[in-house]
Amino acid sequence: FSTGYQANLSLIGALCGPDDVILIDSDSHASIYDATRQTASQVVAFRHNAPESLRRKLERLPRSRRNRLVVVEGLYSIRGDVAPLRDIVDVCHAYGAYVLVDEAHSLGTYGATGLGCAEAQGVLAQIDFVVGTFSKSLAGIGGVCVSDHPELRALHFVARAYVFTASGSASNIAGVRAAVRIVRQHPELRAQLWDNIRRLRRGLQDIGYVIGDTESPIVPILIGDEARTIGLWQRLLSAGLYVNVIVPPGCPVDQCVLRASCSAAHTAEHTARALEIFARATGQATGSEPQARSTSDTPIVTLQSTS
Ligand SMILES: Cc1ncc(COP(=O)(O)O)c(C=O)c1O
Repeated sequence: FSTGYQANLSLIGALCGPDDVILIDSDSHASIYDATRQTASQVVAFRHNAPESLRRKLERLPRSRRNRLVVVEGLYSIRGDVAPLRDIVDVCHAYGAYVLVDEAHSLGTYGATGLGCAEAQGVLAQIDFVVGTFSKSLAGIGGVCVSDHPELRALHFVARAYVFTASGSASNIAGVRAAVRIVRQHPELRAQLWDNIRRLRRGLQDIGYVIGDTESPIVPILIGDEARTIGLWQRLLSAGLYVNVIVPPGCPVDQCVLRASCSAAHTAEHTARALEIFARATGQATGSEPQARSTSDTPIVTLQSTS
């Protein structure tokens, strides 16, 4: 697929028809929500990362021959938390539901060979469809779906965004193939990534920031108020540090977040500089005007976007 967005959009649309039911985690990415808006299937949301909520929703569905597709993500992009895939798979199997896992943020970073959270949790063989994107750890553009179901070949003809739009360019695909090779051949990069994650999380907590509970390459810094979040984001940027800012409509108005993402390419020095900037930015009065960024400022550390 041309992008991961297109993969979700047209896969879910192609897999599910008017007689089917799609069950999605309530924190799903926009591409999953948008896919459900384009199908004639019944759509049911269950509580975020709550297999019990999924079980109750499946239980309430009338017993019939309708197909059920459960869609979850391996690693969620805003809170940086991981899906309890083993429990989700157990519930799906108990109720005869297919499982699709979007590993957009976990591909390359989780699992012994970097295949994602399903591999890390030992349930890869029980997942029906795995979706991935090239736009995160593989540093390219494109989307992919893999499955052991031979019927997946039919999607080459019925997934509209596969049939009716251009495929990835040769140069992009060559870059992605090289990145896949690196992911496979250099597990030490994953070890380096996890060291970086722990260093950044410890440092942020020492400064006094409240961060998400789950250890993952996405480090959400929970600020809350929208104006404070934007003010802090601008002070960080002025000092040469880029993080993602998540404000409405990306989240509720009082639950704004700054999101840092760790990379294996960061060194201990990069993280130390980033933490220095974080410490200085908090030291400044929260209501103060952000300083204008001088043209001679160059970013010291860029914590990459993984949106
Ligand atoms: C969970 C999830 N799925 C799919 C996508 C879309 O990926 P792409 O950037 O390749 O369109 C994203 C991107 O942000 C994502 O977070």
